[in-house]
Amino acid sequence: MRYSTHTRLLFVDALHPQPEIIQEAAETLHAGHLVAFPTETVYGLGANARDPLAVARIYSAKARPASDPVIVHLHSINQLETVAVAIPDTARLLAANFWPGPLTMVLKRHPDIPANVSAGLSTVAVRIPNHPVAAALLKTSNLPVAAPSANLFSRPSATTAQHVLDDLKGHVDLILDAGPAVIGVESTVLDLTQDSPIVLRPGGVSLEALRQFIPNVTLHTKHLYIDDSPSASPGLLIKHYSPRARLLLFSGPFESVIAHMRQKALELRAENKRVGIMTPDAEAQHFHQLDAHILTLGTSLEQISHHLFGVMRQLDALGVDVILTRALADPTGLGAALADRLLRAAEGNIISC
Ligand code: TXA
Ligand code: MG
Repeated sequence: MRYSTHTRLLFVDALHPQPEIIQEAAETLHAGHLVAFPTETVYGLGANARDPLAVARIYSAKARPASDPVIVHLHSINQLETVAVAIPDTARLLAANFWPGPLTMVLKRHPDIPANVSAGLSTVAVRIPNHPVAAALLKTSNLPVAAPSANLFSRPSATTAQHVLDDLKGHVDLILDAGPAVIGVESTVLDLTQDSPIVLRPGGVSLEALRQFIPNVTLHTKHLYIDDSPSASPGLLIKHYSPRARLLLFSGPFESVIAHMRQKALELRAENKRVGIMTPDAEAQHFHQLDAHILTLGTSLEQISHHLFGVMRQLDALGVDVILTRALADPTGLGAALADRLLRAAEGNIISC
């Protein structure tokens, strides 16, 4: 049975959160209930990380498989030793440079943190988010807060309180609405429990930034099949960050990609399929005469990241059957996170043009 409850939504000032609202949210967490709150990356679905029953409610509310561990959020580095053990110097170095911020570090789990936070693993993922509302909630509650993204499992992450409502109304006790999350894609997950540091999920902190402190870091995205050869098994890919519509990801020289996307749009219309196109602003003009919903993502990588999940959700709401989009050519900075989310949304398939 999915965890069900009455959902309340409270507006809170993003920069100067009202103490009485934060107090109420903190009490909700202490009571073992679920609070969705904004972070700088996406909205999180929070529960007291020390309470295995509260943590179980997260999995239930999201319909998330018990095999997928969640991130523990803190407000201060001083709390680190209460959730992790055998903390390497590298973690302290990175914490000093990237926290608060969109970096999650996987460390050895402290025995006080229940196993279901980490899906039974001996590790725990930890981060200090950089958002005044998250910081106030974490400080006032003085709890480590387990929080995955506040979306239904396999749906695009929630970047607004409305997205949280759309997915979790009736399954979360309280939603704190402080407006849209700024970054729009999730944190970088870095595993520090191996011989050398491994990025398991590219995100808000770039690989280049990490390399300045840990030159031996490598990128290994779990469950992700980057090989686009026809023999590659899509079965190895966990469907994730996906709109309901099928997403087709086109890659290659610009002119060729545009021509292939236009051709595909025409073919799909001929089959009576409803078509959505997701595109950077400057490229929208190439699709104008097509019978399709054309939604723009902005210009810079920052704007595109900020809009990505919201635009996927908008296209779903418009009822399109298929979404066409171009693989971004720049894999540096936030580009690596964007490429990862698009590839997952496309279930690992790239159409080479
Ligand atoms: O930006 C974010 O990271 C957001 C906000 C709310 O903090 N949270 C988020 O959580 O995206 P979630 O649960 O949607 O993604 C957490 C990722 C998953 O890919 C999960 O597999 C990985 O972190 N993860 C969590 N704990 C782990 C662990 N102990 N070992 C390896 N990976 C872990
Ligand atoms: Mg998630």
